[in-house]
Amino acid sequence: MEIIIKQDSREASHAAAGVVARLIHEKPNAVIGLATGSTPLVLYRELIRKHKEEGLDFSRVTTFNLDEYIGLEKEHEQSYHTFMWENLFSQINIKAENVHIPDGMVADVSAFCTEYERKIVAAGGIDIQVLGIGSDGHIGFNEYTSSFASRTRIKTLTQRTVKDNARFFGGDKSKVPHHCITMGIGTIMDARMNLLLAFGEGKAKAVADTIEGPVAAIVPSSILQHHPNAKLFVDEAAATQLKLVDYYRWVYEGKPEWQKDA
Ligand code: F6R
Repeated sequence: MEIIIKQDSREASHAAAGVVARLIHEKPNAVIGLATGSTPLVLYRELIRKHKEEGLDFSRVTTFNLDEYIGLEKEHEQSYHTFMWENLFSQINIKAENVHIPDGMVADVSAFCTEYERKIVAAGGIDIQVLGIGSDGHIGFNEYTSSFASRTRIKTLTQRTVKDNARFFGGDKSKVPHHCITMGIGTIMDARMNLLLAFGEGKAKAVADTIEGPVAAIVPSSILQHHPNAKLFVDEAAATQLKLVDYYRWVYEGKPEWQKDA
């Protein structure tokens, strides 16, 4: 794991955007896994800026989103389809046919999930998976006790996640769907790089458990300790419960020149 602690979420998001942009420069037909929620918004804004001002080209990029609520139409204002088109896709030159987001209204959820996995493999696998983290340590919507071997499937959100996400539904918990389709932890672990962003004090415990706790299904994100290329971009507030914070800074600041952009 590489722990990158930046002053604030803007700096961290811009550094993460640099990693994504470099991949697209090196591999124009890159496959990128994407997350929704408040965390990746600045990263997406920076990618849009790089597209508009620096010509970052998404025309051959393929994307797979982590998750979607079951029961929300694509057009629903809180669907992850709406989120992604509003906050990224409508402002870059990605082809609609290269965008994949789970369909929360599908009749046969199991068949859909199997096909989603097949499409990821057919695309060549995910090069970079962007992740946020729940305050309970979920990645995607893999809540605690999710199998580390899980693939794309239906999951039930925890009551805590429903409460956390009520802010997107006018503060009304009863409006938050209880079920979702999410990529599995096994799917996420297959990505060649995982890039997790975590900002704010509310994520500090989950971040500490992810990095310094035991690997256990009670904290799904802790599996990233086993990933060969996981980068965690956190702001100062999210780093407050890390015991080895000075060591992570020391490692990052002392990186050899040739490794600095890697
Ligand atoms: C969303 C997702 C979730 C969020 C997490 C954090 O696609 O996969 O794991 O990343 O719930 O949400 P925010 O960023 O809103 O705090």
